[in-house]
Amino acid sequence: MGAGIAEVFGRAGLQVVAVEVDEPLVAAGRARIEASLDRAVGRGRLEAAERDAILRRTTFTSDRGALAAADLVVEAVPERLDVKAALFDELDRICAPTAILATNTSSLPVTQIAAATGRPGRLVGMHFFNPAPVMRLV
Ligand SMILES: NC(=O)c1ccc[n+]([C@@H]2O[C@H](COP(=O)([O-])OP(=O)(O)OC[C@H]3O[C@@H](n4cnc5c(N)ncnc54)[C@H](O)[C@@H]3O)[C@@H](O)[C@H]2O)c1
Repeated sequence: MGAGIAEVFGRAGLQVVAVEVDEPLVAAGRARIEASLDRAVGRGRLEAAERDAILRRTTFTSDRGALAAADLVVEAVPERLDVKAALFDELDRICAPTAILATNTSSLPVTQIAAATGRPGRLVGMHFFNPAPVMRLV
């Protein structure tokens, strides 16, 4: 889901920071987005120049510190409250106080996830459908 969500934001013209847990997974995530964009180009739904522009404005990294300047952070880590809570606790310290933190959870209570941050009023549920680049519903 994370690759699909990053692609959606990139295709919408935004600067994107795509974060994975380690370098091999960063490379795999990048390859996934490239393959999806290439398919769109092959089907005539995306200009090749726009694919290149999307990849230029997307930063692929395993460094969560790169999220310090983000206005919006969407998590798509495994569907476990402890994993999401640990991530949001870290994001709370990394991100600007004005940043909005969003969870892509399918079933966990958003209020419980929000309680893991010092900014429960700035944590939202933002549930994408799979595959995110195809499904327009959020
Ligand atoms: N798959 C779907 O159809 C779908 C649809 C909507 C929402 N969701 C939700 O999106 C979230 C992710 O689902 P998915 O299907 O993409 O799962 P996935 O297992 O395919 O991906 C999980 C991601 O989290 C990373 N990860 C693994 N362990 C981690 C850890 N300890 N800390 C941080 N990151 C870690 C993985 O590298 C991977 O990028 C879940 O909350 C799920 O409920 C999934």
